[in-house]
Amino acid sequence: AAALAGPASAQGYPERPITMIVPFAPGGPTDVIARLVAETMSRSLGQQVVIENVAGAGGTTGITRASQATPDGYTIMMGHMGTHGAAPALFKGLKYDPAKSFDPIGLAAGTPIVIVAKNNFDAPDLKTFLEAVKSGGAKINQAHAGVGSVSHSTGILFNSIVGAKPTLVVYRGTGPALNDMMAGQVDFMTDQIVNVAPQITGGTIKAYAIATPERSPALPNVPTTKEAGLPGYEVSAWNAVFAPKGLPKDVAAKLDAALAKALEDDNTKKRILELGGTVPTQAERGPAALQKLVESEVARWTPVLRAAVDGSQ
Ligand code: MLT
Repeated sequence: AAALAGPASAQGYPERPITMIVPFAPGGPTDVIARLVAETMSRSLGQQVVIENVAGAGGTTGITRASQATPDGYTIMMGHMGTHGAAPALFKGLKYDPAKSFDPIGLAAGTPIVIVAKNNFDAPDLKTFLEAVKSGGAKINQAHAGVGSVSHSTGILFNSIVGAKPTLVVYRGTGPALNDMMAGQVDFMTDQIVNVAPQITGGTIKAYAIATPERSPALPNVPTTKEAGLPGYEVSAWNAVFAPKGLPKDVAAKLDAALAKALEDDNTKKRILELGGTVPTQAERGPAALQKLVESEVARWTPVLRAAVDGSQ
């Protein structure tokens, strides 16, 4: 009798291009990291990993769609600390569970948070910036990429620590928000360094501080929040590759290996570092470490963000 067909085995996987859903507009930090790793993954998988930007609702539109895709290895996604850490605390009726709806593939990059503002914001340093944002109230505009995104969650945390109540302006990603900031159309945001490092270095926007314990080698002149007078604000984000739950084991193994290779690629590592990102250590890589990170991030962010939202009522 013919051998019983097993689960869709992956002998020939991948036999056609793979879609990587990026849940924000092109040109933002998640898109930048996605395109970087997708390029190297394509080479090692022997099929194109094609980026599809599906923006909206703080990234949850794209991640929900990816979570409902067939788990055959032909749809993966670039999620992050917002979609897979902050969203459950902020997003009513979230249609996925970051810790249950996915097969984690692995962490792609750490992305420290920088407090950035339009060049002509009238404050020479962080202390005067904080005073201006606090006293400016709703006259000050703060950009973010939707409820639960990294810029939104780190932004409302900033507001609750500072006691500021700016007007929040939503974008389909912090790429478009950055364009408005360079045009002086929006006052400030807390964004991932890999999006804003080139503009800060180029002088088209300004950075008041970076929210990490040490300065970034990519932005040596930007003080830490501790140095600049806001020691309570230390926060970093991360971007990571996920697949919908239920991949055949050998398909998952091929995706895991392709991401691991991308993180060993000299050019990929160089680009992530140049943009101020951090390359995951060996211990931080792979599915098990990412699953643990997601569980700990949801547990960490939920009370913090609930308090931040309650505090701002
Ligand atoms: C983006 O890629 O636009 C950002 O990740 C959005 C955000 O989470 O702030």
